Amino acid sequence: MSTARIHPSILSADFANLAGELRRIHTADAVHVDVMDNHFVPNLTLGKPVVEALQKASELPLDVHLMIEDVDRWAPEYAQVGVDSVTFHVEASSAPIRLARELRAAGAKSSMALRPATPIEPYLDMLGELDMLLLMTVEPGFGGQKFLDLVLPKIRRARAAIGGSGKPIALQVDGGISRDTILRAAEAGADVFVAGSAVYAAPEPSVEIDVLRNLALG
Ligand code: DX5
Ligand code: ZN
Repeated sequence: MSTARIHPSILSADFANLAGELRRIHTADAVHVDVMDNHFVPNLTLGKPVVEALQKASELPLDVHLMIEDVDRWAPEYAQVGVDSVTFHVEASSAPIRLARELRAAGAKSSMALRPATPIEPYLDMLGELDMLLLMTVEPGFGGQKFLDLVLPKIRRARAAIGGSGKPIALQVDGGISRDTILRAAEAGADVFVAGSAVYAAPEPSVEIDVLRNLALG
């Protein structure tokens, strides 16, 4: 790919020191914020009050990844916080086209996520409603899982469909992205890379972000 953007996930950061953890990733392109409700996924993280605090504290744009039920109701509220993008899971939405439009109307980039086993084909006609498509490369819920190579063909099909649409839709991957896997995802067509444990486990997260970006550029 000619571009590669790195969005570190603060899921792997020290939640008792989020402002300091933001400073450690100042070389990033955006901050990935994982919102989990213990229903859509078996884990609980943070909600709107913390996203509002991060929005005030962060000099980088926020990329909010909602892993929650009832997303048609809650996602527009996150968009109203002023974050850069809001990602909802299609498996949790009963009206994804309407929701994508509501996110844009609220001033956020609209983004839709698919779990690893969710096919992309039913959604190709609505790509134009999206600013970003997120293809999960692990089952959502936890950091530190192994990258699922079985998603690579879907990344390739998504890249081809985005190319065919003629629209500047970003293609994000999330889960198991590291020095070992990022090039595979990039070669398949991803151009935005979420990395949690790989960034925050590194001695210098800000340097690791540059390493990962360079590896993705091939
Ligand atoms: C998982 C989250 C990811 C997670 C990625 O459900 O959506 O954003 O933080 O963590 P790593 O990079 O460790 O797989
Ligand atoms: Zn995520």
